[in-house]
Amino acid sequence: MSLLLNSSLTGASSACLLRREKCRRRGRGHVHGVTCHQGGNDDRREAARQQRSRLLLDRRDMLLGGLGGLYGVTAGPKVLAEPIMPPDLSKCHDANAPALDNHCCPPYSGSETILEYDFPATPLRVRRPAHLVKDDQEYMDKYKEAVRRMKNLPAEHPWNYYQQANIHCQYCNDAYYQQNTDDVPVQVHFSWIFLPWHRYYLHFYERILGKLIDDDTFTIPFWNWDTKDGMTFPAIFQDAASPLYDPKRDQRHVKDGAILDLKYAYTENTASDSEIIRENLCFIQKTFKHSLSLAELFMGDPVRAGEKEIQEANGQLEVIHNAAHMWVGEPDGYKENMGDFSTAARDSVFFCHHSNVDRMWDIYRNLRGNSVEFNDKDWLHSTFLFHDENEQLVKVKIQDCLNPTKLRYTFEQVPLPWLGNINCQKTAETKSKSTAELSLKRVGEFGTTPKALDASNPLRVIVARPKKNRKKKEKQEKVEVLQIKDIKVTTNETARFDVYVAVPYGDLAGPDYGEFVGSFVRLAHRKKGSDGTEEQGPKKKGKLKLGITALLEDIDAEDADKLVVTLVLRTGSVTVGGVSIKLLQTDTPAVI
Ligand code: C2O
Repeated sequence: MSLLLNSSLTGASSACLLRREKCRRRGRGHVHGVTCHQGGNDDRREAARQQRSRLLLDRRDMLLGGLGGLYGVTAGPKVLAEPIMPPDLSKCHDANAPALDNHCCPPYSGSETILEYDFPATPLRVRRPAHLVKDDQEYMDKYKEAVRRMKNLPAEHPWNYYQQANIHCQYCNDAYYQQNTDDVPVQVHFSWIFLPWHRYYLHFYERILGKLIDDDTFTIPFWNWDTKDGMTFPAIFQDAASPLYDPKRDQRHVKDGAILDLKYAYTENTASDSEIIRENLCFIQKTFKHSLSLAELFMGDPVRAGEKEIQEANGQLEVIHNAAHMWVGEPDGYKENMGDFSTAARDSVFFCHHSNVDRMWDIYRNLRGNSVEFNDKDWLHSTFLFHDENEQLVKVKIQDCLNPTKLRYTFEQVPLPWLGNINCQKTAETKSKSTAELSLKRVGEFGTTPKALDASNPLRVIVARPKKNRKKKEKQEKVEVLQIKDIKVTTNETARFDVYVAVPYGDLAGPDYGEFVGSFVRLAHRKKGSDGTEEQGPKKKGKLKLGITALLEDIDAEDADKLVVTLVLRTGSVTVGGVSIKLLQTDTPAVI
């Protein structure tokens, strides 16, 4: 069964969908942390939640007020807690983008006037799934014509197809430093900036395409990879004679109906198509379920102006999205085009892929009753610059893109099979066996020294939980989060490891890694070699945060004191500095 997401649902009732589905599956009136009845308390909870976030905001204001001049002024290495501001466009410099000879700066400079964006007043435009627009000849003709015109614009025109693609390189491959710094790059990945920045980027791209064919209703399609029929490479980008075509792709994946693998790591998944489809749906379901009560788990951690030393933590949606980049791009060399940020947007499928990422955010928001994800001025006021559909350089703030209807677009409503009843728990064969029958091994704690992951020998550690058998209310207030810190990617190649959790037998663990929780992924990120040598690996360390409250309920591990955590390196070269389990304050206590 699949559920249709109805955007006219009230926030509170849409927030219940996942819980209700869970109750339905369990067939009981009450399961851990979830009361199975319809409505009622939800409205009250919602009101309480809103009040709570207002209070939080007020308290922050008070604190900031109390700190007086300290806020925003240098206060040791943390400094400048302020929204990210756009860079000075006249100060674009060489990027870390060897696939493009390190050049992706725009031809224009910083001398243009910057205006506030005049939000469009068009009728609501509907983005449709790529696999369904393929037979709409009229639409396809328009789409191709618009992209053809974009490609034919003078090379220096800000709307030119490759200028549009270069924007992605500028903001992902360190072509700008943040204002008032000379070494903190503007980076739109690995943080809470990721989804809003890409939303605006797509919006302007879409509006420009519409303008080029003089059609105010034009929308780009979305690659509906969260449903079975959409899990192959969209056919509309495959015709070599079409302007939507790009030869720099992994031909094995884009040609013959291969199924996209959301855990792809440059090795082919040999499971059956139906198994890969199930795995993909489960990965999406888990991602929503595990991160529903805390936005940073889904969207990424805060980043503020001038911050240099923070450990970047992307949300699990960004992790899922990376797989499609890797799977579409060439498997070798610079992984062009999709597999490297500097070149990714040179393939038209990039925008179609990101349109679905954007849709996933919209669904997430709906499921959380449309509540603001981060009630934080540093997020809401973060500002970006784009050329709009009138060739005007404009600035836009995150707070104005949270609801796509302000940008006058929405998504066609299609079934969400991952929200339905799919069997995502592993069958634990081990449970029926006696401990004597299992080959149990002693598993140690992580300790204090960083560890290099080894593809042939997964890292297994035992980790204490802060609290077991937590009450429903405690779970509503705090989500249990598995944290892996000081993640250092030590080469410029793509890196990925997957994380599993199981219940140990004392200090012993069986051979089964247990339940898949989520992944860490960094795309290949080549560095320029000013003196001919390549600097290896991103400077910043990363952090991975995975919500496990719902997962532990699903695997009946509520009463475990400790968990066995297994890190399986899938590709690349990675060192990690620690594994722990923490309780973090939720931002929507009504949902788990
Ligand atoms: Cu800016 Cu899919 O990446």
